[in-house]
Amino acid sequence: MPLVSTGELVTRARSQGRAVAAFNVITLEHAEAIAAGAERAGEPAVLQISENAVRFHGGELTALAAATGAVARASSVPLALHLDHVVSRDLLHAAYTEGFSSVMFDASKLPYGDNVKATAEAVRWGHGRGIWVEAELGRIGGKDGEPPLDAHAPGVRTDPAEAAAYVADTGVDALAVAVGSTHAMTERTASVDHALIAGLRAALPVPLVLHGSSGVPDDGLRAAVAAGMTKINIGTALNTAYTGAVRAFLEAHPATVDPRAYLVPAREAMAGTVAHFLAVVRG
Ligand code: G3H
Ligand code: ZN
Repeated sequence: MPLVSTGELVTRARSQGRAVAAFNVITLEHAEAIAAGAERAGEPAVLQISENAVRFHGGELTALAAATGAVARASSVPLALHLDHVVSRDLLHAAYTEGFSSVMFDASKLPYGDNVKATAEAVRWGHGRGIWVEAELGRIGGKDGEPPLDAHAPGVRTDPAEAAAYVADTGVDALAVAVGSTHAMTERTASVDHALIAGLRAALPVPLVLHGSSGVPDDGLRAAVAAGMTKINIGTALNTAYTGAVRAFLEAHPATVDPRAYLVPAREAMAGTVAHFLAVVRG
């Protein structure tokens, strides 16, 4: 099946009051597992590569992007490619040359005015090339191995009035908002503010994106979608499944040297996790 665009998947989901899940790709096995899980669930999905993952591959996006694109094109369900948490302008520009339909430009660590300026520039650049641009306002913690931010501290969450001005001033296509989730949680104990999601949904003309969704329990995710979240980003849950399967296999088979022996169950564990999240997000 040909690749579809993230904008197309998200726009359709929003018009139906539904959501689309986006999963992080670090290795080829992640991409294969996401495609397998999506096929199993019979749902579309977004495969996203973050600036962090590019750094892991020595700063080279081309090989992982090409492999992920090939996996997506071979799938029987619609899949889209997205570049995630992009800070570097060079990587932003690579979204176009490497065939991504969308990018999340992350200027959230900058003061408000600088975030608006940098994001508006990224949006102008992206829209000139047909690229859908997501941005972030508020502070969703736990990125880049940084210490987790207290998602419940005052001033951390996205304010609906400020977000409405931000969307108008930047022209972004979707907004990642801070509503109580944080990145890299390995326990699903995050408490998301569903009333704030509903307020943001009412205040903003663009789809909302939930980051750090691995830490949100199934019921919390369902309620987040019902309240107005349209793109649900999931990364750590795949790594928890992957590493758990590798650890269990090697404990049971300590003499193993062929990585395929433990990557098969690792990939299968990730595919099961993907299918599970897709079923939850579908409602
Ligand atoms: O952008 C990616 C996501 O926000 C993933 O967050 O690894 O905590 O699920 P997570
Ligand atoms: Zn994120």
